[in-house]
Amino acid sequence: MKFKKNIFCIGGGHVGGITMAFIAGKCPQYKVTVYDINKKLIGSWNSDNLPIYEPGLEEIVKSVRNKNLFFTTELAKGIKEAEIIFVCVNTPTKDYGIGAGYAADLYYWEQAARDIMKFSESDKIVVEKSTVPVKTAQAMERILNTSSKKIHFEVISNPEFLAEGTAIKNLEQPDRVLIGYRNTPQGQKARDAIVEIYANWVPKEKIITLDIWSSELSKLASNAFLAQRISSINSISALCEKTECSISEVSLAIGKDKRIGPEFLNASIGFGGSCFKKDILNLVYLCRHHGLHEVANYWEAVIKLNEYQKNRFVEMILNSMFNNLANKKICLFGFAFKANTSDTRETPALTIAIRLLEEKAKLVITDPQALNNAKKDLQKADDTVEYIEDPYKAVKGCDAIAVLTEWEIYKHLDYLKIYKLMRKPAFIFDGRNILDHEKLFALGFNVYPIGKPPMKHF
Ligand code: UGA
Repeated sequence: MKFKKNIFCIGGGHVGGITMAFIAGKCPQYKVTVYDINKKLIGSWNSDNLPIYEPGLEEIVKSVRNKNLFFTTELAKGIKEAEIIFVCVNTPTKDYGIGAGYAADLYYWEQAARDIMKFSESDKIVVEKSTVPVKTAQAMERILNTSSKKIHFEVISNPEFLAEGTAIKNLEQPDRVLIGYRNTPQGQKARDAIVEIYANWVPKEKIITLDIWSSELSKLASNAFLAQRISSINSISALCEKTECSISEVSLAIGKDKRIGPEFLNASIGFGGSCFKKDILNLVYLCRHHGLHEVANYWEAVIKLNEYQKNRFVEMILNSMFNNLANKKICLFGFAFKANTSDTRETPALTIAIRLLEEKAKLVITDPQALNNAKKDLQKADDTVEYIEDPYKAVKGCDAIAVLTEWEIYKHLDYLKIYKLMRKPAFIFDGRNILDHEKLFALGFNVYPIGKPPMKHF
């Protein structure tokens, strides 16, 4: 079959793999090829065991793989035959040199740009999907257009707004799609080509075209605003605990204001994930670079409060268990940074686990998807940590449970059975406020929610 266009994607991780599979599913007229340098990852995309757990993903991949969706480790051929190249490589926080700890590391991005330049034999539209600091597209365009070949590269910014666990839903019904372009005849042509892809399933009014820099900054700012909401509600949760007030009531009350809205107001042990911290650090770096120190400090406070919230949770456990955790067994319910994912990048559970181990607590970790990642993350910390998938087996002989991920299954366990299996006095620290606290208290547990008065039997 002859395809209308060839789309090539550099980077087969969460963003590249999922987005391209989805585009292939919606657009049978395009041939979509995903490349990654990691052979094992590509092997896994081509197998029955996909490298990423994401609800709905497997069905899509299975229905289009080797029809119009291909996973490959062949770079040159893919670049040559494509008209449109998406760059979905990761841009972690730089851990060396100027901007270490804040700026984005653009090593992979630049490498991708150089590869595109090296292997291209015709004009290309290069779509920046990785989250990159403002003005990266311009820098990339400069690198690309230094080529001595008579080829034109047009860079488009098309930030992704997927959240893990709901990625397919976010792609199916996005709040908006941003397409940043240069307002030149070539830029407009490239813009139209990308709009054409999304128009296969996204209503026109949700496709926003804007200038490249605004598009890049909107991505950073969106994540900063979302993380700020969590830090804001978490800051109020600390006050609630001191004043015997309930954060759930406060969240409900303020969320009723239409201008505020109800979502993303769940107090927690803090936000995790690969994006929020990285993007805010990036924003902070940009602001400092431009001499905007007050603005940088303002956004940095969102991260500081997140660290504070994790520490506060550990202190709550320590204080309530008589200021001593040595040799006490604590079962961590969940290790993933949020529910419905196996991802543990920047998970608050890791910080909490390490702090508890420092207090010489014994840990048993249970999680329906993230145990393998948890093992890797804690490899160096302590080899005495136990990993048990079945929560009933995991709690056996434990002094306390700490709920660290909001998995639905934890709401529906038989807590009477669990209570009987634990050592007494039994404690539950609900770091996600997902359990029925009154019921647990009635069963005999000492219950410590976030942002609400504790319920204790002594
Ligand atoms: C986030 C954004 O939500 C996406 O829009 C964005 O595209 C993505 O980053 C990205 O830049 O790639 P994600 O990191 O997958 O998505 O996860 P979120 O659902 O945003 O959750 C982040 C953290 O906040 C989790 O640890 C979650 O448990 C926590 N959270 C969320 C709370 O503690 N309280 C809430 O009310 C909501």
